[in-house]
Amino acid sequence: MKIAIIGATGAVGREIIKCLDHLKFPVDQLFLVASDRSIGQILETPFGKITLEGLFEDIFKKADLAIFSAGKEISLAYAPLAKKHHCLMIDNSSAFRYDKDVPLVIPEINADLAMNHQGIIANPNCTTAIAAVVLWPLHQTFGLKKVIISTYQAASGAGQKAMDELIDQTKDYLSGQTETVKYFQHSLAFNIIPHIDEFQSNGYTKEEMKNRKDY
Ligand SMILES: NC(=O)c1ccc[n+]([C@@H]2O[C@H](COP(=O)([O-])OP(=O)(O)OC[C@H]3O[C@@H](n4cnc5c(N)ncnc54)[C@H](OP(=O)(O)O)[C@@H]3O)[C@@H](O)[C@H]2O)c1
Repeated sequence: MKIAIIGATGAVGREIIKCLDHLKFPVDQLFLVASDRSIGQILETPFGKITLEGLFEDIFKKADLAIFSAGKEISLAYAPLAKKHHCLMIDNSSAFRYDKDVPLVIPEINADLAMNHQGIIANPNCTTAIAAVVLWPLHQTFGLKKVIISTYQAASGAGQKAMDELIDQTKDYLSGQTETVKYFQHSLAFNIIPHIDEFQSNGYTKEEMKNRKDY
């Protein structure tokens, strides 16, 4: 298959490349797409050295399958082009999770739904997907009614830039300097903060609400 990864230089995109290799996915050709600032850079991958491309319509003509991991806005903006060129979109963002025409798939649980796609297959939030793999067999066996979850999420949840910030803050903290805070509300170095994404009117954050069935 000819596969495009949209957001290939990101924390998730880099993991997707590793997964394709690990799963021995039948990759005939791999197109790596990132923002304009990355065009022309070369990424070393298990599939060889690949030159990064920008996000243009042409990519969906060339690829059979595009895995999107560059944020909700990009998924929403480029889904029509993927559809137009019959390029199957696997979306890692929150753009289509509550769209009734888009199957929301965790392969270990409901892979069969993916077969009825209409051009887009979505996957749930990272915490939800991982928790559901454990909860599903428990639910089948015992019938779960309510689950109370606490998650302790890494800086990586906010992407490569947030991981870089944590490294810088750790260096500053250990050398007695004041840490610079840009992507979080407080410094994350040797710290945990009860705040992921924006607070909602009910007092929960958006990330917490993504775990709820009715959200
Ligand atoms: N990190 C996680 O644990 C996690 C888990 C599940 C889902 N997600 C979702 O996955 C998505 C990406 O997350 P991430 O952590 O990988 O973020 P990230 O590290 O910030 O990477 C963002 C990627 O998107 C690319 N990008 C940005 N603007 C673009 C544009 N206009 N056109 C094309 N590519 C563009 C970036 O390219 P440049 O390098 O050129 O800027 C980079 O490859 C988000 O929707 C996030 O919610 C993340």
